[in-house]
Amino acid sequence: MTSPRTPGPRSSGSLASGEGASGAARRVMPPPVTPPGSEVTQLYGPDFAADPYGTYERLREYGALAPVEISPGVGAMLVTDYRAALDLLHDSETWSKDSRTWQQSAPEDSPVMPMLVWRPNLFFSDGETHERYRRAITDSFDRIPPHELRTAVIELADSLIAQFGEKGEADLMTEYARVLPLMLFNRLFGLPDSYSEQLITALAGVWEGRTPEEASAAGAAFEGYIGELMAAKKQVRGEDLTSWFMDHPAGLSDEEVMHHTVITMGAGHEPTANLIANALARMLTDDRYYSTLSGGALTPLDAIHDVLQNEPPIANYSAHFPKRDVYFHGTWIRRGQLVMVSYAAANTQHGRAEAGASGGATGSGGGAHLAWAAGPHSCPVQQPAVLIATTAIERLTAWLSDIELTVRHDQLTYRNGPFHRALTRLPARFTPISPDQPGATPWESRESRPREKHRRTSPAR
Ligand code: HEM
Repeated sequence: MTSPRTPGPRSSGSLASGEGASGAARRVMPPPVTPPGSEVTQLYGPDFAADPYGTYERLREYGALAPVEISPGVGAMLVTDYRAALDLLHDSETWSKDSRTWQQSAPEDSPVMPMLVWRPNLFFSDGETHERYRRAITDSFDRIPPHELRTAVIELADSLIAQFGEKGEADLMTEYARVLPLMLFNRLFGLPDSYSEQLITALAGVWEGRTPEEASAAGAAFEGYIGELMAAKKQVRGEDLTSWFMDHPAGLSDEEVMHHTVITMGAGHEPTANLIANALARMLTDDRYYSTLSGGALTPLDAIHDVLQNEPPIANYSAHFPKRDVYFHGTWIRRGQLVMVSYAAANTQHGRAEAGASGGATGSGGGAHLAWAAGPHSCPVQQPAVLIATTAIERLTAWLSDIELTVRHDQLTYRNGPFHRALTRLPARFTPISPDQPGATPWESRESRPREKHRRTSPAR
């Protein structure tokens, strides 16, 4: 799980704010992060996917940041400390999102590069440029009435449930959680449902990042989809996000519209799928949610907040690069070095609620979590994302009132990769239903009471 370490950050450069130490203390050059010859932790591979939280615990021994490798030959510093994460995310004076200098010395064909290579979009921009891009995104999402969004999710959920309802079993990851947001985005961007399949393959490849060939084929497939979308909307505008981006007062160029469509879909699909699936996995394996399915105390929204706090769908991201050498929370970081935030580690840090309850999002536990990141680049689509996930879960559990997993929570497996917390499968069984029978609704279809459940185990984190 580890490989020879990449050089730790050393610097004789200028000092910068953020570490909370006194000026005198800051002038003392600290030792390298890890002693020469030691190893750097890999944030990829089966070991990490099987036990990311064990890895985060070990990384805490380095302090607020630790050296990691996010893909072979791609080193980064990972912030695991909650307070340090907030300091970084809110300090645009010191930290930039522009990856151009960094990527010059990064391996071009690494499978993680699609997530890190600079493009003219809000993820990789700072200051006024970022604000201009971000307005186009937030204003366009604001034009979608929540009740219409909910209706669209219900329609798509019902169409998917109709496909597997009669089988009495389904992989809720591949047959539901992963497909539903994709079909929804396809609609929101203004293309017919028949285009969804092309997107499923492409986006899975981009996020999974296995081999360079797969990553690049996925990127090409995604570009092909976007090309068709742009051409269609240039010809005829509609009531959809793509058209709204095109006509937004920010005056985005064709290239900028294309990049913002790509980033919205790329940024939105995978985490929403994981939010739905991770929340379902908790609900279906945790006694506290058992009664929810027939009207108990804990709701799908509780499961979603539980996931946001304890198992964020994006575990590690917020790629930042210091504008100058900086001594940050006890570690020297070189100008332009890649630093990422582990929302998963920061959220689950012991005592983090006391470390600073402002700046992040409020969860059901009363503290602030970082599942949406924080600061100027925090997720701009939080409310729609929660609405989508909640509706998807409510609809599924309304139709399939006795649904349960066919494996224990601790037998679930997760996909490899440094960024996401993504289940490979979510196998479930339920009493078969026929959703397409004339006049049926999810409520009417439940003729019998939920059958006796197997005892459920508490979910692992
Ligand atoms: C409808 C679904 C979603 C859409 C369209 C969406 C879109 C976006 C966009 C455009 C950004 C970039 C913001 C910026 O740089 O200013 C962003 C950031 C982010 N989103 Fe979302 N998002 C969605 C759902 C989610 C979900 C479900 C999660 C996880 C709970 C999530 C977590 C994040 C995080 C952590 C960031 C910061 C990433 C970074 O700066 O590196 N998003 N999102």
